[in-house]
Amino acid sequence: MDPNRKPLIAGNWKMHMTAREAADLAAAINKGLDPDLKHDVLLAPSFTGLHAVRAALSGSKIFLSSQDVAWEEKGAFTGAVAPSQLLDAGCSHAIIGHSERRKIFLETDEVINKKVKAALKAGLLPVLCIGETLEERESQKTYRVLETQLTGAYAGIPAADAAKCVIAYEPVWAIGTGKTATPEQAQDAHTFVRKQMERLYGRDFAAAVRILYGGSVKADNVDELMAQPDIDGALVGGESLKADKFLRVIHSACQHAGHGLARIARRSSALAPRAYDARSSEAVLLS
Ligand code: PGA
Repeated sequence: MDPNRKPLIAGNWKMHMTAREAADLAAAINKGLDPDLKHDVLLAPSFTGLHAVRAALSGSKIFLSSQDVAWEEKGAFTGAVAPSQLLDAGCSHAIIGHSERRKIFLETDEVINKKVKAALKAGLLPVLCIGETLEERESQKTYRVLETQLTGAYAGIPAADAAKCVIAYEPVWAIGTGKTATPEQAQDAHTFVRKQMERLYGRDFAAAVRILYGGSVKADNVDELMAQPDIDGALVGGESLKADKFLRVIHSACQHAGHGLARIARRSSALAPRAYDARSSEAVLLS
């Protein structure tokens, strides 16, 4: 990773745990964090766990995220949760476009684009997930898929807003399968993603945007992945469901976190809720 980009380790808890269990896990992770940790940590429980996890993280600098968000602000949308409701529940971020949402819930790039816009409008920071299936990789379509997903997700979004997004590259064939992309495969995809961001928003933007890797990340592979120049963190599923395992991932990821971070950390005086402005490497308060 580049020392000018602040690493982010995110835990996606998917459809696991009661609110109480989620709060206990959040508290255990918070308690076990190295107080000198220089990178960002984010937890994404189910909607039903958000309030309890927020309470468990009171005073902590861990960010809270939803796993999805509705694109409408309010109204007759049974089962959906609006951006303003997520802010009210304590979220600073929203995961959008996870491959499970794309595949199981049939979300298109158009829907994902609407969700990214709605989240940004409300002041939530999107963690935008992209990634190719095994079939697409084997038929040499990885780049085309990533280009289409990125172009679709960012359609009509100005650079100032797009800068508030984090991207998570998650090859679908690596999610929950125990098959991690090799550091070289991941770096190759991340380089491509960064080039696409340069095409969309220019070189300075691309140099600053944070791109996480996701897909079977564990303590014994996270450091090697994050040693790659374009990998700025990880979106972790299964391995984030146990405090000791996730803490090992978080702290193993420190190894390559680098010296430049001290400078970034000094600038980031505000604790949660806050947004990370990728362009300027400044932490800014959410209004
Ligand atoms: P995994 O999930 O770490 O269990 O592969 C990652 C994700 O889906 O975000």
